Amino acid sequence: MPNRVFFGYNIAKDFVIEIIRIDQSYGTYFFMKGNRDIINVGIIGLGYWGPHYVRIFSQMHHTRVELCSDINTERLEHIKNLFPGIQVAANVNEVINCDAVDAVVIATPATSHYPLAREALESGKDVLVEKPMVIDTASGAELVSMAKSHKRVLMVGHTFLFNPGIIRMKEVLDSGEAGEIYYLHSTRTNLGRIREDVNALWDLAPHDVSIFSYLLGTMPEAVCANGACFLKEGREDVVFLTLYYPHGKIGNVHVSWIDSNKVRKVVVIGSRQRISFDDLDPLERVKIFEKGAEIKGRSEGDFGKFQLLLRDGDIYSPKVEPIEPLMAMCSHFVDCVSERNNPKTDGKHGLEVVAVLDAAQKSLSQNGKRVEVPSLSF
Ligand SMILES: NC(=O)c1ccc[n+]([C@@H]2O[C@H](COP(=O)([O-])OP(=O)(O)OC[C@H]3O[C@@H](n4cnc5c(N)ncnc54)[C@H](O)[C@@H]3O)[C@@H](O)[C@H]2O)c1
Repeated sequence: MPNRVFFGYNIAKDFVIEIIRIDQSYGTYFFMKGNRDIINVGIIGLGYWGPHYVRIFSQMHHTRVELCSDINTERLEHIKNLFPGIQVAANVNEVINCDAVDAVVIATPATSHYPLAREALESGKDVLVEKPMVIDTASGAELVSMAKSHKRVLMVGHTFLFNPGIIRMKEVLDSGEAGEIYYLHSTRTNLGRIREDVNALWDLAPHDVSIFSYLLGTMPEAVCANGACFLKEGREDVVFLTLYYPHGKIGNVHVSWIDSNKVRKVVVIGSRQRISFDDLDPLERVKIFEKGAEIKGRSEGDFGKFQLLLRDGDIYSPKVEPIEPLMAMCSHFVDCVSERNNPKTDGKHGLEVVAVLDAAQKSLSQNGKRVEVPSLSF
């Protein structure tokens, strides 16, 4: 929502300015919002990620954290210590059925997303559910259709589509400067966090599948996935996923939670440029290498021969605004709730990602066999 984010000087009379210190890597920015009703948010799941939502929704103007819940009472205590003014409840139904709550945020493990989101939608709440939206395509389709019939906002926490570095990459690709996109690859490795309910594919690859679809503007037609289970039988710790997109473009994703080298990189190889995104490099998050290889058509009078052009130019790092992606995502959610708009990462986007992961899971269980991604109708 670039029309709502300003930097410092653009102060209009009827607006409220909020200055937020985000964190070390994203710095400070000015955030401006128009006059509107307060949106009361209920947050379910207060483990590692949920408290970030509590922090953000309690800092933003026009939102209030009405009630938080977790099945673990230690996490409730933790939130009470951090945010003494915030009400907590051990029973999630108190959040879902609370008349004062307008919107529910679900930051629980992936396997619980579907029942919680369904109940929240049924109870008339707008919903922001963490990634992956659900862990099977049929449940995802049901949530999308419920949100539509109940006229509720359904948004999925695909945070990277709000990351200014990824948005910058998309702008470069859309400008055509990178030339023809040949392929993409990403690496998302670290030691932990090891999930109990899903494998590394469902935990980590939703980010990459979502990013690739956003950058290419299309979903893959088919996938192949290979992986291995080192820590627990039946739950892959490392996965290599290949995605086949229309017009011969391919993507490759490497995810692992048993690799001590923390990497968060996405690279696009175009005919004229290589563009890299490194989320762990706050100074040069995006780098553009004006280097590439392309075929310039057949040479005159030399039928059958191609003219190969190797470009070897500058390397530079464009400016990327220091905006915390989760903050940008939450404010987009609030805008969508206030204005009854469809989010950038709506249920449909979340469902497309789930359909790709579903196909990848089938491929994993068939030793990397190519599996078609079903086309979804909405
Ligand atoms: N978008 C991102 O960048 C990002 C980053 C981290 C995590 N996540 C997602 O956020 C979700 C939570 O991840 P996490 O790392 O905080 O996990 P976590 O295990 O640290 O926390 C989950 C919390 O949910 C609670 N919980 C479990 N089942 C519940 C239920 N039915 N009702 C209420 N509470 C319940 C647990 O007690 C725990 O406190 C996952 O879906 C994860 O993929 C997204």
